[in-house]
Amino acid sequence: MNYDLSMIPTFETQRLILRPVTTKDLPSYQKNFNDYEVIRYLASYVPWPYPEKGVEEFYYKMLLPKQGKDYWHWGLFLKDEPNETIGGIDLWRNSAIDNRGFWLARKCWGKGYMTEAASRINDHAFDDLGFEILHFGNAITNIGSRRIKEKTGATYKGTRPFKFVDPEVHDSQVWELTKANWLKFRNKT
Ligand SMILES: CC(C)(COP(=O)(O)OP(=O)(O)OC[C@H]1O[C@@H](n2cnc3c(N)ncnc32)[C@H](O)[C@@H]1OP(=O)(O)O)[C@@H](O)C(=O)NCCC(=O)NCCS
Repeated sequence: MNYDLSMIPTFETQRLILRPVTTKDLPSYQKNFNDYEVIRYLASYVPWPYPEKGVEEFYYKMLLPKQGKDYWHWGLFLKDEPNETIGGIDLWRNSAIDNRGFWLARKCWGKGYMTEAASRINDHAFDDLGFEILHFGNAITNIGSRRIKEKTGATYKGTRPFKFVDPEVHDSQVWELTKANWLKFRNKT
């Protein structure tokens, strides 16, 4: 089957390249994603232990068939190391509870990379894809993910029950970012 990856633009931020994942990126995607600390706060449909061909399956069965329709996925690459997939970020149109997901290789945490990537994707969602509001969720114990929302102008709305890979966590925070608030936030920073 042929897939059209031209629906997913490539972006550059200060330190990152955000671009569509290709088959040559899958081994490093698998290596960096297959880490309980990366996966534990994802939705429970992500399997753990993570299968040897998990990323390949996700790529062919889920990502490629949906790419650029109502789903957009970018691999994250350091400009200094452009051949290693160090993370992913995606957007979904049809979700009342969560329109964006992301993950980053553990060795890259705490350097502001995901804030950089999420800001670029917020721009794309509101400026180009026509979103008027983005809904986000995160496990109540996932402080890093919560901070990214706080640092990019989102508003906390409450909590709701949710099943994560980590069976000890039962609640998700609910956040929203309106287009108006993003534009206001962006103009201030
Ligand atoms: C969440 C995740 C993407 C964050 O990526 P990152 O590039 O490290 O994030 P940033 O550096 O841009 O911002 C993280 C912020 O959280 C803070 N933070 C992270 N863990 C923290 C902790 N345990 N306690 C206090 N602050 C913490 C960081 O200090 C930083 O805030 P600051 O800039 O005010 O200092 C990364 O940890 C990850 O991939 N986790 C696993 C997957 C995941 O949880 N995905 C989200 C599902 S909703």
